[in-house]
Amino acid sequence: MPPILVLSGLSKTYAGGHVALDSVDLEIRRGEIFALLGPNGAGKTTLIGAVCGLVRPTGGTITVDGVDAIREPRQVRARIGLVPQELSTDMFEHVAHTVGFSRGLFGKRRDDAVVERVLRSLSLWDKRDAKIMELSGGMKRRVLIAKALAHEPDILFLDEPTAGVDVELRRDMWKLIGALRDSGVTIILTTHYIEEAEEMADRIGVIDKGRIILVEEKQTLLAKLGRTEARFTLAAPMTALPADLADWPLALEDDGGTLRYTITAAETETRGLAALVRRLDALGVDYRTLDARRSSLEDIFVDLVEKGA
Ligand SMILES: Nc1ncnc2c1ncn2[C@@H]1O[C@H](COP(=O)(O)OP(=O)(O)O)[C@@H](O)[C@H]1O
Ligand SMILES: [Mg+2]
Repeated sequence: MPPILVLSGLSKTYAGGHVALDSVDLEIRRGEIFALLGPNGAGKTTLIGAVCGLVRPTGGTITVDGVDAIREPRQVRARIGLVPQELSTDMFEHVAHTVGFSRGLFGKRRDDAVVERVLRSLSLWDKRDAKIMELSGGMKRRVLIAKALAHEPDILFLDEPTAGVDVELRRDMWKLIGALRDSGVTIILTTHYIEEAEEMADRIGVIDKGRIILVEEKQTLLAKLGRTEARFTLAAPMTALPADLADWPLALEDDGGTLRYTITAAETETRGLAALVRRLDALGVDYRTLDARRSSLEDIFVDLVEKGA
């Protein structure tokens, strides 16, 4: 199936001369959750703004299901829902009304059944007559999502959906986004929480200084770039690595008291931790504790952005 969204050479230089997007090429697959990761100022909100017609690109093209978004902004906008980064909504409005109104903004005819379905799916039905200002922070966020879904878009952008949200609420939000994907909506979210991408995304793109530096399946990314790290606390400190261990990815730390092992996922077949443990036993190297961990997406991301800098 052709991608649902294609960005080609997309560029944005703001009036002051700042290059926020530098020839971005990106394809979004139908039905996926794509997480766009990047530090603050990387260009995430600008990218979303360009697709949603809020930021005028200075170069490149945006195509939604074959339709040119720069030439046909209204047609494309009707297919897209946006949950903005800033919580901005009229606090005095009533929930159901504001959601129904959002639908109308896209020229869709009034349909109370759709509004009800959206509100129910977000557990907001009981609050349909409440004023937005009366709701908790988590519910206010859900109202923003309801507004973005009111016109039944098939692409949903969520710009930092859980920024400043507590851990429990963040987990609720992840569940909700998963359920939306299961209902067939293509989801593009931006985040600077790596954990969020690790938890939810099918694919991950990393943007830094307006450039896409990587796009990959999450699983592939973890498998390819993931590392295992282990630390052996030695029973007797070493002054130098024994020659018998020269072939292993090892280093001494803490004045020879700790043996550190670092290996990439690709190397583990021949130089795996289990094999190392057997080797140490055979050489009579005694240790008190062994801590091992696999690197997370967080480690990988920090590596990437630091290298790119
Ligand atoms: N309206 C604007 N005018 C000038 N510069 C802007 C404007 N909006 C954003 N920028 C700059 O563009 C860069 C990218 O911003 P943004 O897309 O908001 O990044 P992110 O969402 O990844 O944090 C930043 O350096 C930001 O200061
Ligand atoms: Mg942003």
